[in-house]
Amino acid sequence: MIDPRTRCDRTPAWPLLKAHYDEEGRGFRLHEAFAADRDRFSRFSLKAPLVFADLSKNLLDGRTRGLLTQLARESGLEAYRDAMFAGEPINNTENRAVMHWLLRSPGPGEEGWQEPANRFIADSLADVHETLDAMLAIAEGVRANEAITDIVNIGIGGSDLGPAMAVKALEDFEHPAKRLHFISNVDGMELGNVLRKVKPESTLFLIASKTFTTAETMLNAHAARKWFLAHGGSPERGAKLSLSRHFIALTTNLKAASEFGIDTTLGFWDWVGGRYSMWSAIGLPIAIAIGAENFRSMLRGAHAMDEHFRRAPLEENLPVQLGLLDVWYRNFHGFTSRSIAPYSHGLRRLPAYLQQLEMESNGKGVDAKGDVLPYATSPVIWGEPGTNGQHAFFQMIHQGPDTVPVEFIALREGGNDLPEHHPRLLANALAQAQALMVGRPGSSGHSYFPGNRPSTFMVLDRLDPESFGALIALYEHRVFASGAIWGIDSFDQWGVELGKVLARELEPLLASGDGEQLDPSTAGLLRYLQEPAAR
Ligand code: F6P
Repeated sequence: MIDPRTRCDRTPAWPLLKAHYDEEGRGFRLHEAFAADRDRFSRFSLKAPLVFADLSKNLLDGRTRGLLTQLARESGLEAYRDAMFAGEPINNTENRAVMHWLLRSPGPGEEGWQEPANRFIADSLADVHETLDAMLAIAEGVRANEAITDIVNIGIGGSDLGPAMAVKALEDFEHPAKRLHFISNVDGMELGNVLRKVKPESTLFLIASKTFTTAETMLNAHAARKWFLAHGGSPERGAKLSLSRHFIALTTNLKAASEFGIDTTLGFWDWVGGRYSMWSAIGLPIAIAIGAENFRSMLRGAHAMDEHFRRAPLEENLPVQLGLLDVWYRNFHGFTSRSIAPYSHGLRRLPAYLQQLEMESNGKGVDAKGDVLPYATSPVIWGEPGTNGQHAFFQMIHQGPDTVPVEFIALREGGNDLPEHHPRLLANALAQAQALMVGRPGSSGHSYFPGNRPSTFMVLDRLDPESFGALIALYEHRVFASGAIWGIDSFDQWGVELGKVLARELEPLLASGDGEQLDPSTAGLLRYLQEPAAR
């Protein structure tokens, strides 16, 4: 595929933004901007499907927004986005299409169905719906089976973070008699703790791995298999407690799953990136937790956001405008991180999920052609739910010397439990955003609050499957938008490879202790680890 993009630093908009930053951006004051523009709140708010976002407390004015949007146009963002929706192999280092959006596209006969753009998409859509129907049938079967009480999902990265986050987010919709466990760490403590509590006859293991080769997942999967067989399970298909009925594989590598001894496999495709895969078979634990109808509703919400990203003008396109803000803050203001503050207990795992989504996608130092980039890319993403974060690290965000843009996510309506707490939660979210912006005028010394600290405030009506789906799709497309402008391939992850190779080489040395040929620090650590632990 010929990349339709122009690298951002080679567009006419780039030096204009630089000059604008030097002239006005650096000294931008939020209180002056609000004083000068009575309509700033509405001019800088955007409504996308199921998500409202107030961007008015960000360090930008109309000219900034105009120049950033010009940058998006000149970078070829629209053509690149259209290439993704046409199924072209925009993941160029792996020569793969990028079609997680197709996982939530309505099928023929469903409301919102659209004529596929080409044969590849038509065939892929048919596969998607066949697998989706099969997966939801399995999910409903598990939900109806009273004998199964515990579902243990074994997977890591994209085969863990999305489902684990979603199941927590949608806890209010969860089947009351199913316990979902997520095992990702190769540290035996995690799996060991769960295996101590479950029984083979009432447990279903989901082995979730796109490649079915990931070392941690394979080690945990084999350990679970061994435990199952040691506790009365049998590899015989016809046996009462058979492996084949208690293990399901979620993978693109059907062959490896069958060699493991798993009969039931739900597949997906190489055009679904691991960190974009919770809408595919990897979503089975979500579907078991919330049921087929709710899962479809989550897909509907995500699809509505896909359509917005695909069709809304760039000026009104929320993922695009958020992605542009990332470029503005990272490349012009030089802010190195962004904090995610969901004022929702349900969204407590969102920061961890976004760390993979954003940093594995856009944490790259070369462009799609492999040329070293002269500018920064992904910020560090971090955060905790509110109000907890307020009692931990908000001190630094208010008074520390670094500026950290904060992303608040709040719900208009709270969940089912203790609804009288909800106004307190909302008041805290609003207060933090307000304090960051206004600071404490006239203060000095320890009570000095500088203010002028930027934040974005997003609101969902409620945390239901549809809104949740829209929110996650919003983040996916925002990562696409900033990655597209930075000129990188947001869909590979070569940076994770070296550590995997070295870990394989180091493991045997832990037994022998013989690391003298290695660098002195690693050799020293190997020697130290060889010594007996203190009693
Ligand atoms: O090592 C990184 C990574 O490849 C992620 O991109 C991915 O989500 C994770 O490992 C798990 O991979 P798999 O689903 O193939 O086990």
